[in-house]
Amino acid sequence: MCGIVAAVAGRNVQGILLEGLKRLEYRGYDSAGMAVLDSAGTLGRRRALGKVAALEARLAESPLGGHSGIAHTRWATHGKPSEANAHPHQSGDDLAVVHNGIIENFEALRRELRGEGFVFTSETDTEVVAHLLARQLRDGKDLLAAVQAVAGGLDGAYALGVISPSEPGVVIGARQGSPLVVGVGIEEAFLASDPLALLQVTDRFIYLEEGDVVRLAPGGEIAIFDARGQAVERPVRVFEHGDGAASKGDYRHFMLKEIHEQPAVIAATLEGRLGAEGVLVNGFGSEAQALFPQVRQVHIVACGTSYHAGLVARYWLERYAGLPTQVEVASEYRYRRVVVPENTLFVTLSQSGETADTLAALRFAKDNGYLASLAICNVPGSSLVRESDLTLLTQAGPEIGVASTKAFTTQLTALLLLTLALQRVQGGEAPAGLIEALRGLPEAVTRVLALDDEIESFAEAFAEKHHALFLGRGAHYPIALEGALKLKEISYIHAEAYPAGELKHGPLALVDSEMPVISVAPNDELLDKLKSNLQEVRARGGELFVFADESVALEAGEGVRVLRLPAVHEALAPILYTLPLQLLSYHVAVLKGTDVDQPRNLAKSVTVE
Ligand code: G6P
Repeated sequence: MCGIVAAVAGRNVQGILLEGLKRLEYRGYDSAGMAVLDSAGTLGRRRALGKVAALEARLAESPLGGHSGIAHTRWATHGKPSEANAHPHQSGDDLAVVHNGIIENFEALRRELRGEGFVFTSETDTEVVAHLLARQLRDGKDLLAAVQAVAGGLDGAYALGVISPSEPGVVIGARQGSPLVVGVGIEEAFLASDPLALLQVTDRFIYLEEGDVVRLAPGGEIAIFDARGQAVERPVRVFEHGDGAASKGDYRHFMLKEIHEQPAVIAATLEGRLGAEGVLVNGFGSEAQALFPQVRQVHIVACGTSYHAGLVARYWLERYAGLPTQVEVASEYRYRRVVVPENTLFVTLSQSGETADTLAALRFAKDNGYLASLAICNVPGSSLVRESDLTLLTQAGPEIGVASTKAFTTQLTALLLLTLALQRVQGGEAPAGLIEALRGLPEAVTRVLALDDEIESFAEAFAEKHHALFLGRGAHYPIALEGALKLKEISYIHAEAYPAGELKHGPLALVDSEMPVISVAPNDELLDKLKSNLQEVRARGGELFVFADESVALEAGEGVRVLRLPAVHEALAPILYTLPLQLLSYHVAVLKGTDVDQPRNLAKSVTVE
């Protein structure tokens, strides 16, 4: 949700910033811009509507040169995508600022500043920050003190990067509610919304805490101050995933690469967490041994695809661990009065660990009397991880495609581990064969991915359609929801998911030859009921696409296409049945020619409410 990158280096920073923006483009891509201070201390700025490539073309015509600069790729919140609304924003020639997040009190601040004669040239909330800073500089403050003073008056969420001709070579950063990391180079220093943006220049990072302000200066000087203005030390962490994560390799899209990484990342998520006797509880943090036996209920809160993972987990937790479980989208949860029974574990699920609503829900939950909070998250050092009592890291590695794939299946893997850990500490036994099946999960995933050609052949039937209906039952209803979400996100086909039993209560009215119906039909106890639902679709001329267990007696024929999946332990089926739905959406999107990795209007990390 907007990406920031900034650099203070002993060389021209334009290339570093541009490469950083390309790597951050998944966060927003409706416009981009850059500001650099040249050796004479003059501020140069270039901005362009559209993707980073448009800015690159502008810079090729008219390059910037200098040793310090800031850059931004935007996902519009206040004001339409346009060059005037693109960052960096300036206050005259006094300074330039890039911002990620939302300034909630910007209207009041804008009125006040207009009253003082400041002229606004954009519709953004960010521009107030530029003028507020200019006011502080005119009052004689240095850039660091100006940012500290202004930060105190801003409501909402922000990460900021600021440069000014008044202090050549200095970049100030600040974070409150939006992610910002410091990249530690050799006599160079950087800022970015995500370490990925800087892997071409460093693998060492400092994750700023809420309220921190940082001053980068020539020679790689880094000084950090906490919300009270006290100088603080923060640990430097080495980024472990390597730079390969930021490239597509031989794949046409990041999404396809990430789909095919699933066997490896599921194996990494399981690694070290399965002992001879079952799931190792200490994998959830040292306090889990003491806390887990006390858990009597579970509340799960998440957004988007992560929410769908939570919905699957409800079936597992209730069935295998016997724990009553509620699952809710974070943006709803945080705005209602929640009744929390004693000994309830609060679980957040998030790929990024920075989703604003999920973070706010965690903070809200802290005052609600939960036993403890557990984050299942893909980003070590993220806000969610730092603010939770317990953490289970998924090992998906960086996910670049906006539509989440490997993050989802590793979340499911982690949630199954959680279910089995809770069951184990409470004296239960894992269902027969499940631990062994879990060990074989990466291999089972590989076998399903090998069906790609067949799945691709299904895609043609969707390219001209405007709607699609996904059906599932039990734990596969959330998988149908996730399948529908994938299809709408990247192919822009309107898709809905229903628990198959609800078909006759409304959606059946929509079924005709123009409405493909996709059904997830593993060989579980609901199969016979699902088959009847499918008959109802066929009887109305609906075209059926069924993903079914190889042992299911279900014949393909006119209007019915069947893809057989290998037989698998019932508990693992939701993970395996996700895969063909990911591939189906991918191939439909490719046929339709949409922007698979960066679908319109969306962003990977939603750090605004
Ligand atoms: C955005 C992304 C989704 C993601 C959701 C939650 O909407 O486009 O792919 O599922 O945010 O993100 P999180 O990082 O909290 O899992």
